[in-house]
Amino acid sequence: MGDTSGFQAAEFRLVLGHFPTGVVVVTARTASGPVGLSVNSFTAVSLDPPLVSFCADRRSTSWARIRSAGAFCVNILAEDQEALSRVFARRGADRFDGVGWTPAPSGAPRLDGVLGWVDCAVEVVHDGGDHEICVGRVHDLDVTEGDGPLVFYRGGYGRFEA
Ligand SMILES: Cc1cc2nc3c(=O)[nH]c(=O)nc-3n(C[C@H](O)[C@H](O)[C@H](O)COP(=O)(O)O)c2cc1C
Repeated sequence: MGDTSGFQAAEFRLVLGHFPTGVVVVTARTASGPVGLSVNSFTAVSLDPPLVSFCADRRSTSWARIRSAGAFCVNILAEDQEALSRVFARRGADRFDGVGWTPAPSGAPRLDGVLGWVDCAVEVVHDGGDHEICVGRVHDLDVTEGDGPLVFYRGGYGRFEA
């Protein structure tokens, strides 16, 4: 952490981990095949124009490929897709092995069984410290009939109950 802060990295992670989020898999089509990574920093940004964002670690090799592809699909994971969330964060594995998908209008993979998808073009990338903030312009989106969302909270997975 920067030397002006009065807290440690562990405290930062602990406190921010108390903010519950959903989990998405951000995918893209590249010349060398499909790419994707698990992300919980996804959020809606603007309705007019329609913009969304997520934060990507500067060290992420998947993010570098998504950025150069210029388009991506956000796949909103359902409560029974915890395993998928783990696979798409694992290095060295073929993340798409055994995973069913169809191409979104941009060509980016739309994963089977997700709650919804948002197909985007990279609009702008902002500096975000050790991350980059990717703002995407939404070109198409839809929801599918399904159960509840996968929830990420304090480093673990759970379900939503109204
Ligand atoms: C639940 C969950 C949420 C995550 N959220 C993010 C995120 O918002 N941004 C990010 O860069 N990485 C996030 N990650 C980690 C990336 O998925 C992981 O670092 C990446 O897949 C590493 O592989 P790569 O080098 O191929 O990109 C998350 C992982 C999990 C399991």
